[in-house]
Amino acid sequence: MAARVLMCPPDHYGIEYEINPWMNRSLGAGREHAFTQWRALRDTLLSLGAAVEELTPRPGLPDLVFTANAGLVFGKRFLSSRFRHEVRARESPVFDEWFAAHGFTVEHLPEGMYHEGAGDALFCGDTLFAGYRTRSAAAAHQWVGQALGVRVLPVELVDPRFYHLDTCFCPLAPSEALYFPGAFDDYGRKVLAAHVPKLIPVGEADAVRFGCNAVVVGRTVVHNSRCPELGAALRAAGYEPVEVELDEFLKAGGSAKCLTLRLDGEEAAGWKQRA
Ligand code: ARG
Repeated sequence: MAARVLMCPPDHYGIEYEINPWMNRSLGAGREHAFTQWRALRDTLLSLGAAVEELTPRPGLPDLVFTANAGLVFGKRFLSSRFRHEVRARESPVFDEWFAAHGFTVEHLPEGMYHEGAGDALFCGDTLFAGYRTRSAAAAHQWVGQALGVRVLPVELVDPRFYHLDTCFCPLAPSEALYFPGAFDDYGRKVLAAHVPKLIPVGEADAVRFGCNAVVVGRTVVHNSRCPELGAALRAAGYEPVEVELDEFLKAGGSAKCLTLRLDGEEAAGWKQRA
């Protein structure tokens, strides 16, 4: 089954508020560069055989480009995010409209239960690994687990730079994942080690370039540029690393994975089909 991905062009992208340690309004982001980099990511995914759906960008929603946070896709169900910050909560009606128009059933978590979608909840095999603290709440992850009937393993994110799980953890295959150990506490590292047989550690230098924020298409792993150790580790594990420079998005605290949302296969069945 070909990968199907949702992306949103950066027409209105920018650093207009600061809701994570990477964002600095006075530095801003260059829209021209952002466009070039965004297109390079899209074209790379297309060249790998992925189908890319494009969401229409909207003024006043600079982070709409980070479609990973739209919600969690599970088959034809779309569990819409409950954003921690009001500036991003405004994106939800746009995402909900798109998913409803594309054949998904749109569902919402109870009010006040923060959950930032595929940014904080990632399937590795049939288990949903769930990051909590800064953005999503542990209780929200349990609610999602119940709603979907899947096993959820919440892990606390202890380093503010890695505020979403997809910034420090990347499933590669049902029993294999990349992770940045420093983003988790001892307990979290134990949980990951106990449930993911092949854990590939990423060093801090590559982790702060958001190397873990990668898009996996089959055996190819698309990630931000200048992550040399990560590239070597991926090759050693039998993957093909592909670098795309995404520095304009790092300024907002995002990279390849954040800029995409898998519309297929985020659920356990997808893994089986892909394997
Ligand atoms: N500026 C955005 C925020 O702070 C970046 C989101 C990155 N997305 C992700 N899935 N990690 O919410």
